Amino acid sequence: TRILFVVSECAPLIKTGGLADVAGALPGALAAYGDEVRVLLPGYRAVMAKLGKTKVLETFDDLFGGPARLRGGRVAGLDLLVIDAPHLYDRDGGIYVDATERDWPDNPERFAALSHVAAQVAKAGVGGWAPDIVHGHDWQAGLTPEYMHATGTDVPFVFTVHNIAFHGNAPAARMDSLRLNRARFDADHFEFWGQISALKSALTGAARITTVSQTYAEELLTPEFGMGMDGVLRHRQADLVGIVNGIDLDVWNPATDPNIKPYKGVAGKALNKRALQKTFGLGQVEGPLCVLVSRLTEQKGIDLLLEALPTLLDRGGQLALLGSGDPRLEVALHEAASTHANIAVKIGYDEALSHQMMAGGDAILVPSRFEPCGLTQLYGLRYGTLPLVALTGGLADTVINASPAALARNAATGLQFFPVTTPALSNAFARLCSLYAQPKVWKTMQANAMKQPVGWEVSAAAYHDIYLSLSEARP
Ligand code: ADP
Ligand code: GLC
Repeated sequence: TRILFVVSECAPLIKTGGLADVAGALPGALAAYGDEVRVLLPGYRAVMAKLGKTKVLETFDDLFGGPARLRGGRVAGLDLLVIDAPHLYDRDGGIYVDATERDWPDNPERFAALSHVAAQVAKAGVGGWAPDIVHGHDWQAGLTPEYMHATGTDVPFVFTVHNIAFHGNAPAARMDSLRLNRARFDADHFEFWGQISALKSALTGAARITTVSQTYAEELLTPEFGMGMDGVLRHRQADLVGIVNGIDLDVWNPATDPNIKPYKGVAGKALNKRALQKTFGLGQVEGPLCVLVSRLTEQKGIDLLLEALPTLLDRGGQLALLGSGDPRLEVALHEAASTHANIAVKIGYDEALSHQMMAGGDAILVPSRFEPCGLTQLYGLRYGTLPLVALTGGLADTVINASPAALARNAATGLQFFPVTTPALSNAFARLCSLYAQPKVWKTMQANAMKQPVGWEVSAAAYHDIYLSLSEARP
């Protein structure tokens, strides 16, 4: 089956979060089932710089305000279709936000363009290739069904919700600028409380909706987690399925990782721990070295972490944190680090350091308020760095909590806490430190963690089955 991925980021070309990891790794995993994926991606400056040799496959005189070219290329084993549209994508700053962390004002048009080109490729094909399925990811691909409808294209559209928090809303006054059909500005299509919603367009227009864990698929149907889309999703419940993310087992392999001192057994972690402590200016202590790698947003529970930290520090533990995002959280973290010798913080985005943290940490923290899947706990499992996570979304599905029952049958791989509050997290830190103080138990948990399958194999098969059932159902 030929699949067109429509997505706003893709590793190793451009990444702000887990979406890029999924878009970069899933195509390779699907190839094992005979699926052929092409990834349609905006040509941000960073992407254009990494593209190398390309072929112009299509030109557009006016793609939402300027000329554009669709380029085909191959990078890191990925077949790419890149939208070279300087007026939309060639700029300083982030891919979604400017240098002051504010959304680009033309984001609706920037990603409408992505969806528009997707619909075009679905209808007419490109360079002799046409997709059997269009698979969009998150709101940036959300208007694709609208544009496919407008051009009378009936290629099935699959949509994956990586994060329901982002709706891609625009004022109704942008209808013409976004080239949308006014007649479909209603509750059954892309209208959401009087606004244009790219996410709603996808949720109403997709033949199938997937999300990135089973627990999140259930949570999405509730007002607490649905972020206003729970009603729409309950309506689509029969077509909604949770498929847990995997990780790229070659990129995240402690035995071959070029960023670390490679190791096969957990004994090899000691050297990496020492190196990591040096990098972060931390000394050696009795307790566990906890690491955290994350975007710094409300979602990720960093405020809870700051409040619960005394419990970890009092028991001789340490924290090394890497992240960037909300300036207020950055300030609070800097402040904590400047007052405690056992807290160290690096603000920024650093791929190599994130690998070193997985290798050198004893525990990886993910205290998220909600987490559709989460990837860093999966890296942690593979590297023998035990996850301490909130009991929510994919964190609930991928970690086996060190309950008395799980410990008794040697199954535990980490710790979970619930509810997602400061007291519960404090309590989890106390449990963590007591487990760490029992080397035999800790080593068993590490061995369990490293044995847990975290690759794409099973989940790629689940996507493959969806593609197959949809393409076979076509006349
Ligand atoms: P989300 O997609 O919500 O950000 P995930 O856990 O799914 O959460 O994915 C986050 C990805 O981004 C992981 O690959 C993580 O290692 C990476 N990441 C996040 N922040 C940083 C950072 N500051 N430096 C390096 N990698 C980061
Ligand atoms: C989102 C979610 C994260 C998930 C990632 C990839 O950004 O926040 O939980 O792992 O997408 O699906």
